[in-house]
Amino acid sequence: MRKKRILTWGLAIGICLILGACGGSGASDQKVYVGVTYYDQSDTFLSQLIPCFREQMDRLGDDGLDIAMTVREASGSQQTQDDQVRELINAGCNVLCVNLVDRTDPSEIIELAREKDVPIIFFNREPVTEDMQRWEELYYVGADARQSGVMQGELAAEMIRKNTRIDRNRDGRIQYVVLEGEPGHQDAIIRTENAVNTLKKNGIELEKLSYGIANWNRAQAQNRMMQMISQHPGKIELVLANNDDMALGALDAYLKLNFTETALPVFFGIDGTDVGLEAVRDGGLAGTVYNDKEGQAAAMAKLAAALVTGEGKEDISFKNKRYIYLPYSKVTSDNVDSYMGDTVKEKR
Ligand code: BGC
Repeated sequence: MRKKRILTWGLAIGICLILGACGGSGASDQKVYVGVTYYDQSDTFLSQLIPCFREQMDRLGDDGLDIAMTVREASGSQQTQDDQVRELINAGCNVLCVNLVDRTDPSEIIELAREKDVPIIFFNREPVTEDMQRWEELYYVGADARQSGVMQGELAAEMIRKNTRIDRNRDGRIQYVVLEGEPGHQDAIIRTENAVNTLKKNGIELEKLSYGIANWNRAQAQNRMMQMISQHPGKIELVLANNDDMALGALDAYLKLNFTETALPVFFGIDGTDVGLEAVRDGGLAGTVYNDKEGQAAAMAKLAAALVTGEGKEDISFKNKRYIYLPYSKVTSDNVDSYMGDTVKEKR
């Protein structure tokens, strides 16, 4: 009898210990330690996306998750970024968010992470499909480049139809130039192609005068634009830029050359960065397309937490199982206020 009781107690204590141990290291109690590395701190869009991501991670912390985060920037060197990933993994990060320097060269990073079983969320600079297939713990958060190009084209078409003065030489065609982002970036060529095709589909006759590659950068765009203005003096009626910084660089060139307002072309950007939105509000840019950094940051934070804790992944809607694309939206002087400052945050 006594023996039986001891056995029962022993069994009960054993079960408690096992349950206790499981409870102690329960998935949702696990610390989420995110290692972030992004391609270059001089990039305006990234310099606003990263703080948004921090804010989203802090919110998860406020909701009771144990959160830690380390951020590195790679100053445009893939080698530096590979080293940073090694360092972040050694420091104990259990999920990585990587904005690749070279979107075609993630192999070293993927190997390092796979070896230690640390999932990677790539963001903003999309790896090619073959690389994304190297391991099932690779994810991507970004936006659909095609959509941003279409929206930019629609904005421009609408403005040209409404405002006949844009066709300054009244030849029934719009003389335009394009400022392009980094060659090889998924957002550069696709944005241009779709903006131009959308304008044509909307019945706008176009004449391409020139284009310049300005690598997303305002100062480079100003230089390229100065050259294009001198090659086609007084002729350019429309500037399509792959991002706001380059649209603003183009405007800088005209202001530097003291063009009067009536002699300016119309400028369109993409991103809705703080400076971009201000320029839309003040009339410098005719419009932009909002690249939803708050939405992207929220999706990254949610996914990072889900990958570590094992909870909440079923609430996330993926495209092709491992991709999350946030929609773009059109911004003009009519709705720009709702995108600015606190209003943007309140929208979420
Ligand atoms: C943004 C650019 C940015 C680039 C960096 C693009 O999606 O529109 O402004 O420079 O990403 O990768």
